[in-house]
Amino acid sequence: MNADWLGLAGKAAVVTGGGGGIGRAVALALAGAGARVAILDRDGPQAAETVRLVRERDGTALALACDVTDPDAVTDAARRSRDAVGACDVLVNNAALLRPGPLRSLELAEWNALLSVNLTGYFLCSQAFGAQMLEAAGGSIVHVASIAASHAQAFSGAYSAGKAGVVMLSRQIAVEWGPSGVRSNVVSPGLVMTPMSRGFYEAPGILERRGAVVPSRRIGRPDDMADAVAFLASPRAGYVNGEEILVDGGFGRSLMSLIPRPGFEGADEGPDVREAGSES
Ligand SMILES: NC(=O)c1ccc[n+]([C@@H]2O[C@H](COP(=O)([O-])OP(=O)(O)OC[C@H]3O[C@@H](n4cnc5c(N)ncnc54)[C@H](O)[C@@H]3O)[C@@H](O)[C@H]2O)c1
Repeated sequence: MNADWLGLAGKAAVVTGGGGGIGRAVALALAGAGARVAILDRDGPQAAETVRLVRERDGTALALACDVTDPDAVTDAARRSRDAVGACDVLVNNAALLRPGPLRSLELAEWNALLSVNLTGYFLCSQAFGAQMLEAAGGSIVHVASIAASHAQAFSGAYSAGKAGVVMLSRQIAVEWGPSGVRSNVVSPGLVMTPMSRGFYEAPGILERRGAVVPSRRIGRPDDMADAVAFLASPRAGYVNGEEILVDGGFGRSLMSLIPRPGFEGADEGPDVREAGSES
């Protein structure tokens, strides 16, 4: 078995929101595959904690406190990461927010605030780090979107619209920069337990009820997302460009299962929810 099957050893990778649940798992996966990883997060201590975890596993990482909505801060982070880990080969756009917000009463400021992180932040980082890839005539960008990009998530303000925008931004990058050797793809998580979503699972019975609507009968782990991100980021996905992978245990493909259809129930159907950590 080739230990560097992914071909990421020695590459310079940047992960936005790397102090959070999925971003941290992505940073650990990329560093575990031998990449040098710059972790951008507006939460400096959480980014530093990810660096500590990477170094504990003998990896190379650097924390950069950066708000992805601030163009000057992003430009500065791009310069500092190039100086520290080298010109960016892999960018993972992942930093995002989720806020409750019914459209009927949503303030414009709330709409704009969410889009400025969840969509404009992805654009600013793509532009700043993509410039290094275009200069080197090679690189890979992976955007973490959501199944909410294709299924409207009600009462969540601009969340779904922003995620749909991310999918199209990724396709546009693929088309504009593909001829210069830069690929752009999306990983869309389903239900994953992270600091962003932890509050939902504190209500009694929610873990079981949520797991029961997923064909794989469990909630996703950040590592599930990280594996898909690492693949798309790597040369192993060298001919995958402009694509989206749903990493959701089949949830996004289960619409037909919502229809009551007497006589067509499977004998083996049932809640049978597995722990988030157990294998499918
Ligand atoms: N958790 C889920 O169930 C789920 C489902 C679908 C999609 N996603 C997506 O996965 C990605 C990661 O989410 P998560 O669940 O790990 O969330 P999280 O809240 O655990 O982590 C997000 C990280 O982004 C950082 N961040 C937020 N705003 C920032 C800004 N302006 N500048 C820099 N950093 C900023 C936060 O400090 C945090 O560390 C997001 O794009 C989210 O929309 C998550």
